[in-house]
Amino acid sequence: MKYTQEICPILQKDSLNRTTFSFVVQSEKAVQTMQPGQFAQLRVTGKTLRRPISVCDFSREAQWIRFVFEIRGEGTAILSRLNEGDSLDILAPLGNGFAVNPAEKAVFVGGGIGVPPLLGASAAYGANATVLLGFRSLRAVILADEFQTNGADVRIATDDGTYGHHGFVTELLAARLEESPCDAVYACGPTPMLKLVSAEAEKRGVRCMVSLEERMACGIGACLGCACKTRREDGSETYSHVCKNGPVFDSREVVWQ
Ligand SMILES: Cc1cc2nc3c(=O)[nH]c(=O)nc-3n(C[C@H](O)[C@H](O)[C@H](O)COP(=O)(O)OP(=O)(O)OC[C@H]3O[C@@H](n4cnc5c(N)ncnc54)[C@H](O)[C@@H]3O)c2cc1C
Ligand code: FES
Repeated sequence: MKYTQEICPILQKDSLNRTTFSFVVQSEKAVQTMQPGQFAQLRVTGKTLRRPISVCDFSREAQWIRFVFEIRGEGTAILSRLNEGDSLDILAPLGNGFAVNPAEKAVFVGGGIGVPPLLGASAAYGANATVLLGFRSLRAVILADEFQTNGADVRIATDDGTYGHHGFVTELLAARLEESPCDAVYACGPTPMLKLVSAEAEKRGVRCMVSLEERMACGIGACLGCACKTRREDGSETYSHVCKNGPVFDSREVVWQ
């Protein structure tokens, strides 16, 4: 895993809702080898541990990386107070991202703050992408218009029915997989959602890649803090590191707890 530490000026800051922020930062080094679905460790002033945030999107040519994050605790609250002109100290790119193939028909399934990494991953697919997004309510909906601008067929579910389908995003997935064939499913979101997404894809024999989340310390495979149970090809179980072997795994490798 080749990563770099870089001080990245914040070029653009937007708030997507009361607690969710988008930062576009300038990057000359880290962006060069970046792949969709990878993540960065962001240094937070006053905190020993960096915080892992997925790459939402990036441009190697224009040398920028975009992060979208939600305030969860103190670290992300401190990050949210940074402004354009300030800098982010990042370690990136980290982990293994999505192996995308825009010539294929793919379904992208995102839940809540798991949605951002799917934006960059699905961008090149245009109309070959169906994007299924699940949120708690209308107020939590983020990035839907941007997926649409990229040409994807976007469908939304909310838990409380205030927007789109009233129910879970996995219900939209089951319906989409019944409609017409697709080559792959890519998913990021809460673990119970990923488990259901994997089951829907696997029972139809569709390749499924899931981006897992674990609490992380080092983010580079050195502290053993982010272990998750996985299955080897021979069926025996072992432990992998979400930061180094993931965060993206083939769903058949994951031993769901
Ligand atoms: C590979 C990876 C990519 C991520 N990408 C994004 C992203 O693009 N946008 C985004 O908003 N968040 C993302 N997260 C989650 C983000 O790292 C945490 O929300 C953040 O570290 C919390 O830090 P904090 O100091 O604000 O909160 P803390 O005080 O550390 O924790 C606050 C709450 O968040 C929970 N939490 C902390 N870390 C995680 C975690 N890794 N997974 C799930 N819950 C956690 C804690 O259990 C606690 O309930 C990602 C996490 C991982 C592992
Ligand atoms: S966070 Fe240290 S090994 Fe993964």
